[in-house]
Amino acid sequence: MSRSYEASPAGPIQGSIRVPGDKSISHRALMLAGIADGRSEIDGFLPSEDCLASMRAMRALGVPIVELGATRVRVEGVGMRGLRAARGALDLGNAGTAIRLFTGLLSAQTFDSRLVGDASLMRRPMERVAKPLREMGADVRTTGGTPPVEIFGGRALHGIRYQMTVASAQVKSAILLAGLYAQSATVVISPAASRDHSERMLQSFGARVDVDGLAVCVHAPARLAPQHLAVPGDFSSAAFFMVAALLAAGPEGLLIQNVGLNPTRIGLLEILRLMGADIEVRGARASGAEPVADLKVRRSSLRGIEVPRALVPLAIDEFPVLFVAAACASGETLVTGAEELRVKESDRIAAMSAGLKVLAVRHAVFADGMRIEGGGDGAVFAGGEVDSFGDHRIAMSFAVASLRAGAPIRIRDVANVATSFPGFVDLARAVGIDLRECA
Ligand code: S3P
Repeated sequence: MSRSYEASPAGPIQGSIRVPGDKSISHRALMLAGIADGRSEIDGFLPSEDCLASMRAMRALGVPIVELGATRVRVEGVGMRGLRAARGALDLGNAGTAIRLFTGLLSAQTFDSRLVGDASLMRRPMERVAKPLREMGADVRTTGGTPPVEIFGGRALHGIRYQMTVASAQVKSAILLAGLYAQSATVVISPAASRDHSERMLQSFGARVDVDGLAVCVHAPARLAPQHLAVPGDFSSAAFFMVAALLAAGPEGLLIQNVGLNPTRIGLLEILRLMGADIEVRGARASGAEPVADLKVRRSSLRGIEVPRALVPLAIDEFPVLFVAAACASGETLVTGAEELRVKESDRIAAMSAGLKVLAVRHAVFADGMRIEGGGDGAVFAGGEVDSFGDHRIAMSFAVASLRAGAPIRIRDVANVATSFPGFVDLARAVGIDLRECA
């Protein structure tokens, strides 16, 4: 049955919170720990549906995994050649990262695999991953470009030098994972920077990864050494609370603790600062291979900007909530070069446009972005009923919009918030958003 949110105008936003662990890092931690030699532990693991799909897949491939607590996981790594065939298809649910990265990892194994997912995942493009893997010698077949993905194992892979056409961390990571098994070094060259969690984590596990600008080279290691990993809070989850505080914080502001601030993830922070946001980074420190800090966010009058194209891949998951911020800025905000938004969990340009229209926000849609006319400091959103299109980030973004709405916003089809952010409703209520989940 489809669940909805009822979000009513409220505020002020205040308090001190932590957001759940990073989704990208949690997926990668399970995979690399699973093929390391022996016991790894992951602290701060994100127990969301997407990451639990990766956990089930690793278990199905023969990796013993024990949940020591809600966010603590022990993985008994079976070694690089210790995975075994799953009994049936691996169902990766809504998780794009899981299906792309597993396609890379499994294309290098001695056995066959079949990868499927939910209705949204079955529409996601897979040739972007399959094509370079085939160049490496893998036998990977998609179904008209999308899942099911069939992988026929037992092929010897060789290294390639691959120029990617999209700045995709999932494509890059799939190639690097296959490259762990290749007979020669594998080089991936990106057209622009994208998140580099795989490169950092591979190095932590002892693999040789050389980074030269936008080129990453992996050398197949003899083995991976097990690790104790601490997963930082997910910047992409913190993003909803950053924007909420900018729109409606009380005098004390909002403190968000232990947020991952990897430079390849914080495009939204830079964009919001260009718009005039008051976000203070406190206590910057390292958490293993990843930088973290606490963020103090104060209410700010935002101004519209032209979003620099170089920041687009570094903010790729944050555009839905950025569009909400832009609607509350003075003047126009222009986003271009963001055509990748069309192939996420939903078509995020179309999904946000449909909701903004209901909420009476003036905007224009392009193939690769949007122009939004900001309404300034008042209640800029009308009330009404919007659809999340089953997309977690669309649902959470419209929940944040309620802080500047003239009447309640109802958001349909919100169950998938659990794919990335378990506990979102409780945390939103704790900081001052009037949010209820209903049937
Ligand atoms: C991710 C990469 C990005 C991002 C996704 C997570 C990752 O996708 O949108 O949510 O963990 O590597 P693309 O590689 O398609 O840009």
